Amino acid sequence: MEPLETTTKNPKMEELEDYVQHLEISLPKELWMGAFPISLYEGFWCSPKIFKSTILFQTQFEAHDTDILLASLPKTGSTWLRSLLFAIVNRNIFSDFTKHPLHTQNSHELVVHMEFPPSNNTNGTQPDLTKLSSPRLLATHIPYLSLPKSIKTSKTRIVYVCRNPFDTFISSWHFYHKLSLNTSSELDHNTIEEYFGQFCEGKFPYGPYEDHLLGYWKESIQNPNKVLFMEYEGLKQDPKAYVKKLAEFVGYPFSQLEQEKGIIDDIIKLCSFENLKKMKVNNSGDAYGIFENKALFRKGEVGDWTNYLTPSMTKMFDQNFHEKFKGTGFNSKYYQPSF
Ligand code: A3P
Repeated sequence: MEPLETTTKNPKMEELEDYVQHLEISLPKELWMGAFPISLYEGFWCSPKIFKSTILFQTQFEAHDTDILLASLPKTGSTWLRSLLFAIVNRNIFSDFTKHPLHTQNSHELVVHMEFPPSNNTNGTQPDLTKLSSPRLLATHIPYLSLPKSIKTSKTRIVYVCRNPFDTFISSWHFYHKLSLNTSSELDHNTIEEYFGQFCEGKFPYGPYEDHLLGYWKESIQNPNKVLFMEYEGLKQDPKAYVKKLAEFVGYPFSQLEQEKGIIDDIIKLCSFENLKKMKVNNSGDAYGIFENKALFRKGEVGDWTNYLTPSMTKMFDQNFHEKFKGTGFNSKYYQPSF
């Protein structure tokens, strides 16, 4: 079966259904964390449940020059970045941070995730963008190569956030565990080696890790006005510098007066892990009808992986990473493969 033309506008629904069915049958399959089916689609691992919405995003989405897209692998800090982006871009509309929308809406409601169908729509269609005002704040987990063409050809700005791979895995391990059991029961530590092995092989949602990161990083080097490459750890270490950079990149720089008034600090405080975690909205309700909002706030720390993974376990990942990144010029202050 021919791949659905990504330039096709309004593909017939029956055609799409057939194509999705064909993908479900024909693509290589795995089970992430023993419970979540994933298939290898366009070189990345994707839940078949979102094939339809992913393809609709790829083929139907028309980017605006003013759009801001947050791209990330799951569990790398997108909830934080969504909050920061929303607070930065809308600071003139919502200037009273004691009555800010973040107090009543989780940031996944304020920044629309493009390939996740809305919770009230199990049909796998796209989120409704008609009510969004400019600039539209959007999010995705899709790798750079698979993004809709119009995002690449328009002036849409992309913010990419990455995180130390081992912290990403540990965060994911906790998150998917909760998701599979829908309880808070203790994690079975015997599973960690097996699932980490799967992560190292790249067989997890939107993996492989290296390809995802490299795709956006390369674009950020070739086209720095298009893609801003950020690291979770950098944001943790020096939030002020990073928030300033983020605001400049998305076209909403802080004026001298704003800086003197301490607005950057106020935004950092509003969006801090401690502040967001204790908000009522983040202790109730769910996101996409799939997980509880509170599952998005666990520890928010750098280096928690050292409590779970041993150097002999991380060696294989380090070696693979080194091989894939050799000669690319990529260098992270926060993750140095040891091999
Ligand atoms: P941990 O599980 O390590 O605590 P995502 O939002 O992409 O799903 O990523 C979730 C991770 O980001 C979780 O990591 C979560 O605790 C952390 N996180 C959420 N909000 C944060 C914030 N405001 N500041 C720092 N980390 C945050």
